[in-house]
Amino acid sequence: SVTLNAEEFVFEANYDESKIPAYELPDVLAGVTTADDWVAKRVEWYDLLSREMFGMAPPESQGATQFRSAADNTLVLDGKVLLRQLIVELAGKELNLALFLPKSATEKAVPVFLGYNFNGNHTVIDDPAVLLPQSWMRSTSDHQAHEKDRGTSASRWSIEQIVDGGFGLVTLYYGDVDPDFDDGFKNGVHEQLGIPAADQAASIATWAWALSRVVDVLEKVEEVDATKVAVFGHSRLGKTSLWAGASDERIALVISNDSGCGGAALSRRRIGETVWRINDSFPHWFCGNFKKYGNHEADMPFDNHVLLALVAPRPLYVASAEADQWADPKGEFLSCLHADPVYRLLGTEGLPTDTMPAVNEPVHGQIGYHMRSGKHDVTDFDWQQYVEFATRHLSKLGPR
Ligand code: GCU
Repeated sequence: SVTLNAEEFVFEANYDESKIPAYELPDVLAGVTTADDWVAKRVEWYDLLSREMFGMAPPESQGATQFRSAADNTLVLDGKVLLRQLIVELAGKELNLALFLPKSATEKAVPVFLGYNFNGNHTVIDDPAVLLPQSWMRSTSDHQAHEKDRGTSASRWSIEQIVDGGFGLVTLYYGDVDPDFDDGFKNGVHEQLGIPAADQAASIATWAWALSRVVDVLEKVEEVDATKVAVFGHSRLGKTSLWAGASDERIALVISNDSGCGGAALSRRRIGETVWRINDSFPHWFCGNFKKYGNHEADMPFDNHVLLALVAPRPLYVASAEADQWADPKGEFLSCLHADPVYRLLGTEGLPTDTMPAVNEPVHGQIGYHMRSGKHDVTDFDWQQYVEFATRHLSKLGPR
């Protein structure tokens, strides 16, 4: 590990473009000239990001998942949406899955968005049918789930829009996998997996790994077309969805909503949140090896455009919000731009622009991007883009 001098610590976030140090990005296509070359290069990059940033996933033997119904199926949202709830057993823990499905899913399996929620399944919709979590809750003062919190995150989950678009939504609380605080990896699935070494999965990679285990389960759920899973995440959970998409090529489409530092944003810009700052505030998110790049971004043998390129050629959507400068919208756009050569080499349209689009003017190519007006959040506007983007791309995959 690297010890920083006191003067190297940057406490004040910089928001001034003119203060961004000159930087050179590692060439994501170094030594690659054909799509075939990319196959080996991709493995190299994936191993590097595994060991140096997120940590390597737990072994497959830890992943055996059993699942069972947690409640009878029921209809919610004025009878429009079928709710299935499952309990998935993973590494000694129980993950509570809520599946919100179009009624037609009982006749024909549907594509789904899969995403973690921050505050429990009961917060994504105000309906007593959703089981109240028993897990440790991050956001309540007594760390328990309460009736009064039902639906408090509903504005972030446009369930009606999703279902009207012919999709299902599969969601679960990320704290079921690993409660989000720095406890030295003692709780959640780490109780069984043990404390990760410096190159082993910290919390983000553990959450990402568990998403793959959920995909294992979805492959066995009749109402879901598991060949068409679009993984979605906001903020820290957007960092998670990117790493899940990079790690699991069964995931058909990847969405990063305001993921920022350690997600879609380029690290070398050092604007808003930085590598040092994120490791300081959230030491459990990235693996031990990533700590040495705090205030030493130039030493990173990769940058975040490589993370995005690992999703190629699968459709990727990166969204920013104008007032979310902490997450560096421009850096998120530039990452897309620098991942684009890989998308093009692999024969896709890539990102259809090389200039940052105006506020609320989405571009949809094989890479999609928008900067919405407003703050760090998930809104109906964001979901409108995701539904449209997923409709266009996933329908190309043909029926299951
Ligand atoms: C903090 C953190 C970000 C993260 C965000 C979130 O702001 O610094 O990196 O994305 O929380 O998850 O909401």
